[in-house]
Amino acid sequence: MDYLSITGPSRLEGDITISGAKNAALPLIAATLLSDAPCEIDNIPDVADIRTLMKLLGKLGSRFTFEDHTLVIDNEEITNTTATYDIVKTMRASILVLGPLLARFGRCEVSLPGGCAIGQRPIDLHLKALEQMGAVIDIKNGYVVATAPEGLSGARIIFDKVTVTGSENIIMAAALARGKSELINVAKEPEVVQLCEVLQEAGVKIEGVGSDELIIEGTDRTPLKFAPFSIIPDRIEAGTYLCAAAITYSTLTLHQVRPDHLDAVMAKLHEAGCRIEESGMSMTIYPAARLRAFEISTTEYPGFPTDLQAQFMALATQAEGVSIIEERLFENRFMHVSELQRLGASIHLKGHTATLNGPIQLLGADVMATDLRASSALVLAGLAASGVTNVHRIYHLDRGYEKLHEKLHSIGAKIERLKE
Ligand code: EPZ
Repeated sequence: MDYLSITGPSRLEGDITISGAKNAALPLIAATLLSDAPCEIDNIPDVADIRTLMKLLGKLGSRFTFEDHTLVIDNEEITNTTATYDIVKTMRASILVLGPLLARFGRCEVSLPGGCAIGQRPIDLHLKALEQMGAVIDIKNGYVVATAPEGLSGARIIFDKVTVTGSENIIMAAALARGKSELINVAKEPEVVQLCEVLQEAGVKIEGVGSDELIIEGTDRTPLKFAPFSIIPDRIEAGTYLCAAAITYSTLTLHQVRPDHLDAVMAKLHEAGCRIEESGMSMTIYPAARLRAFEISTTEYPGFPTDLQAQFMALATQAEGVSIIEERLFENRFMHVSELQRLGASIHLKGHTATLNGPIQLLGADVMATDLRASSALVLAGLAASGVTNVHRIYHLDRGYEKLHEKLHSIGAKIERLKE
């Protein structure tokens, strides 16, 4: 197993190119199951979660090549509609094949994902919506067995809660359903918007893209033909590098970013005292004179993303005053707290709220990554800490950050990837 060894404190400088968004690429790759013709997708991040989804699609009968961030995939001959436990247990986002498989083939079996390190994460809203579209759903031997022999029908669906992959699954299902679907309280994340836009390009009529109400006219099982497209930049990767610059009092320029996807994140960095200049698809962050405490409450887009909560907690350890961080989406997304405390952070956790006192001079230590974003927070803390921080179990990082240590090394971090 590999680990990262970081010697801090670091001062960073230079340019970073942001990769394509993992959380946009996953649903869009799943959406290719709605097509029986070859599709070409560019700017796919080369990260473990994408490789896992490709493995799953390979088992279903997809034929594809994935080279230099470009995927060419042909789903004409899908021979199997079962997403097995061995794959789903390693990546919950495998559930994204449920909507498209059921819509195109009228049946599928997907292993139930179960809980994970950040919370329970049920999929009840995905299943309820599919039932409203006429699917019959049974849970058998740990699998969701979904059938719709006559195909899915359009329906009026009100999501009880905003769910990102739930919205994506139902948008994909509605694209091939019979008739009109009206989806209410849909997620508005940029990744959901890109899914809608790509479906529109493929000829699906969708009204309300970017809002929380969508009207989708399904094709009644006529498979789609996708024009080649490119995945949007990863706003969470970009936010992580902005935090890397902020926590080390460095100037850093990011390229291939969408600043308009980062409004809530930039607002918090301003609150912390950093200055950011935007220029088209690039942005430069300048250090604060002195980092100031801030308050965060995670929420759905366009609010502050839960996927940057851990990284901003690392940043708060260096900010002067009392920072308050409330996690509102996942009940257990605070596993990084005890690891940050090992580095010396002063964090008081009560319920869903963490209160931090800063700034604290962190001291390097061995810490363990617990989930993808928690891992990147530990790397950020390691950049600010004095001495050596070893971040173990970095397979979590590999799931969603392309070449993290190489990118950080290229801007001056003393970081090595070593074998345990
Ligand atoms: C997506 O997960 C992302 N994953 C997550 O990114 C992200 O943290 C999350 O959205 C929130 O932004 C992908 O896009 C692949 P949800 P998802 O359904 O869709 C509850 C990362 O680090 N809920 O929007 O699984 C749920 O428990 C990851 O890249 C139900 O109750 O999240 C949570 O409290 C991790 N029933 C809330 O809704 C359901 O059926 C939001 O979860 C579905 C969700």
